Amino acid sequence: MNLLTFQTNEELNQIGASIIASLVQTKQNAVLGLATGSSPIGIYQELIRLNEKGYVSFKNVRSFNLDEYVGLPAGHPETYLSFMNKQLFDHIDINKENTRVPNGNAENLEQECKLYDEMLADASIDLQVLGIGHNGHIGFNEPDQNLHGGTHIVTLKEETRQANARFFDSIDEVPKQAVTMGVGSILKAKMIMLVVRGADKADIVHRALTGPITTEVPASLLQTHPNVVVLLDKEAAKYFH
Ligand code: F6R
Repeated sequence: MNLLTFQTNEELNQIGASIIASLVQTKQNAVLGLATGSSPIGIYQELIRLNEKGYVSFKNVRSFNLDEYVGLPAGHPETYLSFMNKQLFDHIDINKENTRVPNGNAENLEQECKLYDEMLADASIDLQVLGIGHNGHIGFNEPDQNLHGGTHIVTLKEETRQANARFFDSIDEVPKQAVTMGVGSILKAKMIMLVVRGADKADIVHRALTGPITTEVPASLLQTHPNVVVLLDKEAAKYFH
């Protein structure tokens, strides 16, 4: 595992974006696994800049997002599809037909999960971007006695809903369920880039990467993956010294 600590957000964003950009420069039809949330936003902004400058093109890139809320109306600004359009896809030359976010409004959600897994199996992710939740979740794989390998419907933990309430008018509006890629699919990615910012994540990221491997800290499973790069800002890195 390659742990990189950055003194400034600007440097973290530049290195994070250059890891993605160099993959895409050498493999133009790369398959990216993408995350929403606040952690990757600065990296996406840097990718937009690199794309505008002509240093990298996403024309032949395919992408799969980790997760989506269940039941938010299509077009709601907090759906993860809206997030991805606003934060990245609307501003780069990616073909939107090659971007996938699970459909949280599918009539048959079980079927949607199966379909997503079939698409993932066909595509094979080259690089998966991840953030980490305060409870150690990755995607929306919440701490539990058992974890799922494939895409599934999940009931969000109260702490996750609280953490995400900042994007909604009130906690009551935060959906109670989501569709998420499973840890099996995440760990199948050829490379994983975990992005962690802020003192409030320092303890969980340290426990996940140095503590026991346990389903109660889903991110601890990343210890079993052969090719993980972790980008930490200096606040999140505080227990690694
Ligand atoms: C987002 C996702 C989540 C977030 C995590 C951290 O697609 O799957 O696991 O990465 O909740 O969120 P932020 O980055 O907002 O702290």
